Amino acid sequence: MKTVPMLLLLCVAAGSAYPLNGVARDEDNSMELVQHYLEKYYNLAKEVKPFVRRKDSSPVVKKIQEMQKFLGLEVTGKLDLDTLEVMHKPRCGVPDVGSFTTFPGMPKWRKTHLTYRIVNYTLDMPRDAVDSAIEKALKVWKEVTPLTFSRIYEGEADIMITFAVRDHGDFIPFDGPGKVLAHAYPPGLGIYGDAHFDDDEQWTKDTAGTNLFLVAAHELGHSLGLSHSANTEALMYPIYNKFTDLARFHLSQDDVNGIQFLYGPPPASPDEPVVPTESVPPETPAMCDPTLSFDAASTLRGEFLFFKDRHFWRKSLRILEPEFHLISSFWPSLPSGLDAAYEDTSKDIVFIFKRNQFWAIRGNELQAGYPRGIQTLGFPPTIRKVDAAIFDKQKKKTYFFVEDKYWRFDGKKQSMDPGFPRQIAEDFPGVDSKVDAVFEAFGFFYFFSGSSQLEYDPNARKVTHILKSNSWFNC
Ligand SMILES: *[C@@H]1O[C@H](CO)[C@@H](O)[C@H](O)[C@H]1NC(C)=O
Ligand SMILES: [Zn+2]
Ligand SMILES: [Zn+2]
Repeated sequence: MKTVPMLLLLCVAAGSAYPLNGVARDEDNSMELVQHYLEKYYNLAKEVKPFVRRKDSSPVVKKIQEMQKFLGLEVTGKLDLDTLEVMHKPRCGVPDVGSFTTFPGMPKWRKTHLTYRIVNYTLDMPRDAVDSAIEKALKVWKEVTPLTFSRIYEGEADIMITFAVRDHGDFIPFDGPGKVLAHAYPPGLGIYGDAHFDDDEQWTKDTAGTNLFLVAAHELGHSLGLSHSANTEALMYPIYNKFTDLARFHLSQDDVNGIQFLYGPPPASPDEPVVPTESVPPETPAMCDPTLSFDAASTLRGEFLFFKDRHFWRKSLRILEPEFHLISSFWPSLPSGLDAAYEDTSKDIVFIFKRNQFWAIRGNELQAGYPRGIQTLGFPPTIRKVDAAIFDKQKKKTYFFVEDKYWRFDGKKQSMDPGFPRQIAEDFPGVDSKVDAVFEAFGFFYFFSGSSQLEYDPNARKVTHILKSNSWFNC
């Protein structure tokens, strides 16, 4: 098989930090470096004469802007100190152009169960430390996808992991200590999917040398089909960050979005199998049963929706009796037994949650592109479901309640606010049991927990009434 090294996945550590005070005086050297950098990583045409009195439209300025945008710098088109500093940092050798999160042609595995084999070992670390670094690196990806990995000890695995020095049988020899640390190939047969580590590096469990887990997690991201990301927080960011806090390592939202773009979110947990709704007809819940509880509740264009198993009640303030419907009669592709729902009134959309997925509906129309994984909202992979959710119209934020904590999501920034999760009981005094459902009406938050309901005043920050859950039904 022809193994054209068209994708050079070289992690290049460019050595020590560049002395910044030398930048101005060393202008010629820097210009050369900049041109190289742009040629290598940003596809700058070789014949473009650089830096002869640049105009704003010159290709070089455009490339600098492209690079600044990609690397998350201020887009000035000029070689300011911030830009030069980033250009001198250790990085991975894959170009930052083209598709940012996948490889050209979007290669990915067509199966979800993959095998890996640790073909041989470095002498830098005990074998079981190597085993566990690789296992941990695979787990990072496994947690947020349907992918599973099993280890084999002989024969050809999808992902063959080797430690080697210099020439090692592909067209990309390693280069001794430093610079190139490792490389990996995108999904496919033969050498594709494989990860090679330069054994001239000092591999370590911590960050005293080159941390094997971190480099492996990045390289295995390539093995699964991810290319580089422009997000500085991402594991797939091209610049190797040895200052990562290993104890608190987690994939960035951007990594999760990338890998779930290829493979989707993990399936619902196996201990809660998805029971086809036809096979277990749950009793039709009685609206005036004093023990009635709800799975989820939401407003919808001024009405209230209360979800229970396969059904929901729809209550309008104008009509005394609530309507009772099958969820599937309004939204055929929604599941039953929902976890949470909330209306984003600014978008006229109700978001519906079940386990690790969510849907968006506008009126009775399901929106395209759903379901999505809840991790795309910024939840860590350990969160498998949310209990309840509410959109705060005043603050334009969404609160997600999970066990005794809550997260706050900023719809504008499309990310979780920093500093969360926080304790529910601390910020919503009086709301101290697990929340089943919540919605907002007349400036109050109505929290449902089992058969009781708390009316909460968010401005006074206190519970103003304790009610039965079905108090809305005029029983
Ligand atoms: C590991 O295997 C690779 C590929 O067969 C080989 O090139 C390399 O020298 C081996 N490394 C060690 C440390 O034995
Ligand atoms: Zn890389
Ligand atoms: Zn190699």
